[in-house]
Amino acid sequence: MAFYITTPIYYVNAQPHLGHAYTTIAADVLARHMRQRGEDVFFLTGTDEHGEPVAQVAEREGITPRELADRNAERFKSLMPRLEVSNDFFIRTSDPQHEARVQEILQTVYDRGHVYEGIYEGWYCPRCADFKTEAELGPGNTCLIHEIPLDRQREENWFFRLSSFQEPLERLYREHPDFVLPRIRFNEARSFVAQGLRDVSLTRARLRWGIQVPWDQEQVFYVWFDALLNYVTALSYAPSPMETESVKGQGLFERFWPATVHLIGKDILKFHAVYWPALLMAGGLELPRHLFVHGFLLMDDKKMSKSLGNVLDPFEVMDKYGTDALRYYCVRDVSFGQDGNVSPAAFESRYESELANEYGNLASRTIAMIVRYRDATIPAVPTDPSLAGDFEALPEEVAALLDRFELTQALEVIWQRVRRLNRYVEERAPWRLAKDPAAADELDRTLASLAEGMRAVSVLLAPYMPATTSRLLGAIGAPTVDYARAGFADRGSGARVEAIEPLFPKQPQ
Ligand code: MSP
Repeated sequence: MAFYITTPIYYVNAQPHLGHAYTTIAADVLARHMRQRGEDVFFLTGTDEHGEPVAQVAEREGITPRELADRNAERFKSLMPRLEVSNDFFIRTSDPQHEARVQEILQTVYDRGHVYEGIYEGWYCPRCADFKTEAELGPGNTCLIHEIPLDRQREENWFFRLSSFQEPLERLYREHPDFVLPRIRFNEARSFVAQGLRDVSLTRARLRWGIQVPWDQEQVFYVWFDALLNYVTALSYAPSPMETESVKGQGLFERFWPATVHLIGKDILKFHAVYWPALLMAGGLELPRHLFVHGFLLMDDKKMSKSLGNVLDPFEVMDKYGTDALRYYCVRDVSFGQDGNVSPAAFESRYESELANEYGNLASRTIAMIVRYRDATIPAVPTDPSLAGDFEALPEEVAALLDRFELTQALEVIWQRVRRLNRYVEERAPWRLAKDPAAADELDRTLASLAEGMRAVSVLLAPYMPATTSRLLGAIGAPTVDYARAGFADRGSGARVEAIEPLFPKQPQ
């Protein structure tokens, strides 16, 4: 099955921060999980480079928008390998192929009669690059997101007939209750539509930094339309990921459109849940299957953002604790889909109690005992059915949760097994069994079961913590992370193990 997942494309007017890393890590977990299951995956991320916010920052810094975009796009691009993110392509909206395809699609939208010329006057936020509706105004005509005064703007430009999609969008929300997830965001989107849709500006006259409107030399496309289309345009020029027999020769568009899921933050819901499906309908294109809307990572109950100055630097965290610790923390501490506070103290506490003490320690002591008591070989004996029972249906449970993009819950059910394994060590006390020659079989079974449990949880944890699980699985002679190997086997593997350095050192550098 094709699985096409996207992140929002990031504005290049800011440096990457944890909020950006967050969506990307979440998308990566899902992409890796689907690859484990043998699905045909395409994972897209990239940068949103046109529009006023970028032009304004460039002007302030005395450089051209293109120079700013080149410099900052590089920072986002290099963030991906740093985060161990396995995107198949990195799109930049300044790519000439993207620009050409945007012009082509929007020309079709124009030719099909969805565009007209008019005058717009309204409250505009230059940071959001968005005209606000009455319901979106803060006190004194301010932006609720950026807490800055809005500009009153009046402009002659081209309009997209969003209002004519009122009925089709109502039908979409009636007939596809899982188009937007979670439910609270679905309701929000549906009620936005229900309030009545007004036409929106498709182009901007005052700006040069954007994609030229093919039928009007004086205008460029409004950045949001240019940006949303990245999800489609990338498929016309990205290189193809591995092809299986069944999809050989197919173009990426045929293979992957419609997208399975766009992951987005709640601040960009309106664009994705209202403008985007309307635009696709206008262009005669199929709609994505799902939007999954996550919440905000907050610090002291405020959204972390460059403009508010309260940023937790993902690079610092990774330098000190490693990438997997950051990946784990992002998904673990804040339930994916909801808002939640993050803090250095909460990070350190999870690192210490869960990564170092629970998972890391389980690995170290299990391997150490196998080395010591069984000459570094996992006994090839039947595993303990009572422990196996606690792992039954775990892979299916994880897959079902991840099919609904429930990243935190899936991690939680896996982690319950990590804890179960630690309890098993305490219950069986292998160090006591080792002292009793009559308990040799029992010790064999205990060690085989522990190694097997650790292997099974690590296969399921691989999408969350790819580097660490790969080290551990390598050390126990079971490097494969195929989902088909995620079940708890009824026999110890007989493989040799190697001692490893602590996976999550107590005193990181
Ligand atoms: N360029 C637009 C998206 C266009 S998609 C066609 C944009 N860019 S952004 O860089 O401002 O934000 C990208 C994503 O990062 C959004 O989904 C946003 O919600 C997310 N985050 C930015 N700060 C965040 C937090 N503090 N917490 C969680 N995610 C947040 O919007």
